[in-house]
Amino acid sequence: MNVEEIKSRITTDAAAVKDNPSLSLFKAKYLGKNGIVTALFSFIKDAPTPEAKKETGAQVNLLKNFVEEKYMQAELALLEAKKTEELKGIDVTLPAYSVSQGTRHPLTLVMEEIRSIFTRMGFSIEEGPDIEKDYYNFTALNFPIEHPARDMHDTFHVDDEHLLRTHTSPIQIHTMEKYDPPLRIVAPGRVYRRDAIDASHSPVFHQVEGFMVDDNIRFSDLKGVLDLFLKEMFGSDLKTRFRPSFFPFTEPSAEVDVQCVNCRGRGCQVCKQTGWLEILGAGMIHPNVLRAVKYDPEKYTGFAFGMGVERIAMLKYRIDDMRLFFENDVRFLKQFR
Ligand code: PHE
Repeated sequence: MNVEEIKSRITTDAAAVKDNPSLSLFKAKYLGKNGIVTALFSFIKDAPTPEAKKETGAQVNLLKNFVEEKYMQAELALLEAKKTEELKGIDVTLPAYSVSQGTRHPLTLVMEEIRSIFTRMGFSIEEGPDIEKDYYNFTALNFPIEHPARDMHDTFHVDDEHLLRTHTSPIQIHTMEKYDPPLRIVAPGRVYRRDAIDASHSPVFHQVEGFMVDDNIRFSDLKGVLDLFLKEMFGSDLKTRFRPSFFPFTEPSAEVDVQCVNCRGRGCQVCKQTGWLEILGAGMIHPNVLRAVKYDPEKYTGFAFGMGVERIAMLKYRIDDMRLFFENDVRFLKQFR
């Protein structure tokens, strides 16, 4: 066996590899089951003496390593050639395309800020379905059947039993059915009402609901949480105030105002000269609501609140027309970073 001669043949054959088929042929010829290197291994056992066996074995192994190395080199060379080919015709000195970066929607930004303020206060997030049963949207929330309070919400009905939720309060019911107290929850979502579109109305808008249930939750807890939230959201120098109000699912109920972000209480067009802006509805969860989810109202109390995201975004960014949120004009949208 002339090792040097075989080596030089391998080198010549490897140099002739110029594409994938010839690479495969090279592999088959030397390394395949019927290849030359495999055949050489059979020489080992034909060697006359143990020393000769050892000698031949060493040479065959050397050849095998040599072929494998040549094979790898040839494979690499092919890959390199392919890369060079691909780069042909590309002018790396041309200016790059500009990549325009998207921005997040102002409503998304405001919702994220609301979520972040409340999660820092230890609240968790819950969600609920947009299509609700009448029971969750109204009945369980202490709206009696046929009661005129249902008319306050101009509802889109889906069928006799289902509707598009008119507020995020049904998430209170779902959450309380799922978990036992203590609960500290915020629940963002889309809500639907049969309103004509104008500068301050849209049939689809967003709310964030919040509620807390435990033993011994008091109205002062509600005041403390909302006061802190509004100061974080609009500025710590602004005062907040609670006015009595009515919701079927809270008792007592309140409407919460913050001093006008525009005139800081002096009176202007934004606050219609009152110095105050109405921001959210709130109250202590009605015992009937707690009963509906099989909580014992003698044992547990809770507060709840709900706010409109569009309204907060309009006040925060001084936007005077709600339609801007839904028209998706990029000249408007890209102003929010
Ligand atoms: N769901 C009420 C609304 O849409 C807001 C609210 C929520 C009021 C929770 C009190 C408590 O107007």
